[in-house]
Amino acid sequence: MTALIAANWKMNASLAGNEALLSALAAGIASKPACDVALCIPAPYLAQFVALVSQLPALAGVALGAQDVSSQPSGAFTGEVSAAMLKDFGCRYAIVGHSERRQYHGETDALVAAKAQQALAQGITPIVCVGETLAERDAGRTTEVVKRQLAAVIQANGHCISEIVVAYEPVWAIGTGKTASPQDAQAVHAVLRAQLAAASANASRVKIIYGGSMNAANAAMLLAQPDIDGGLVGGASLKAIDFLSIVSAACA
Ligand code: 13P
Repeated sequence: MTALIAANWKMNASLAGNEALLSALAAGIASKPACDVALCIPAPYLAQFVALVSQLPALAGVALGAQDVSSQPSGAFTGEVSAAMLKDFGCRYAIVGHSERRQYHGETDALVAAKAQQALAQGITPIVCVGETLAERDAGRTTEVVKRQLAAVIQANGHCISEIVVAYEPVWAIGTGKTASPQDAQAVHAVLRAQLAAASANASRVKIIYGGSMNAANAAMLLAQPDIDGGLVGGASLKAIDFLSIVSAACA
C-alpha cells in the first residue's frame, strides 16, 4: 500500500515561517512523490498554503490537511471550523481525536466519532488518532484502550470505515523523544488491522500510520513493519530537512 507521511504542525506557524518552510520543502520534494504526503496546518493558514502552492509547483503533489474539525455541520458554534469550510480550501485530510485534544479539550470517543463523520460527509479523510497513556500501557491496557477508541469511530461510520486513516500515537511517545519500538508499534497496528478487518470487507485499504517522536533516524525501521503504513510527524515536520528525509524513507 502507498505510504502516507502526514505532518502535524500543531500550534506552530507564522506567515513568514510557513513561507520559509514550504519553500524549503518545495526545493527538496519530488513533484510527484512516490508516496502520499500531507501537511496538517493550523486553520488560519489554509489560504496562505493554497496561494503559496500555486507559486511552488513542486508542492502540487502535497495534500492539505487540518488538525481538527467540528462535530457539527454549521451554525451557532463559536470558534469551530466545519468540514465544509475545510473543503472550501481543498483540505483532503483532517486529524480527529489527537491525544492533545482528548487531553486538553476533553474530547470523548463519541465526539471524535462525530468529527470523523462530519469529515467523511464532505469527502475529507479523517486521520483518526488512537493511543494509550503511559499509565494505561503500564497497566497492560493498551489493546483495550485503542480498540475502544477505534470502535466508537467504526460504530458511527459503518461502511465508510474503509475511507479513514488510523494513526496510532502512544501518548507517552508524543513530543518526548521516546518512540515505541518497531515491534511494539507493529503489535498494536496488527490489533487495529484485525479490528478494521472484522468491521469491513474493504478495510484492507485503510492506512494505519504511526506517530510519536518519528524522526529521520527511526522512520525507516518503523516503516519497515508490515502494518505500519506511514507516519504522523509532529516536531520533525517543522524542519524541512528532517521531514524530507522521513518522506524519502517512506517513498523508497
Ligand atoms: P511528535 O512527532 O512531536 O512526537 O508528535 C507526534 C504527534 O503528536 C503527531 O500528531
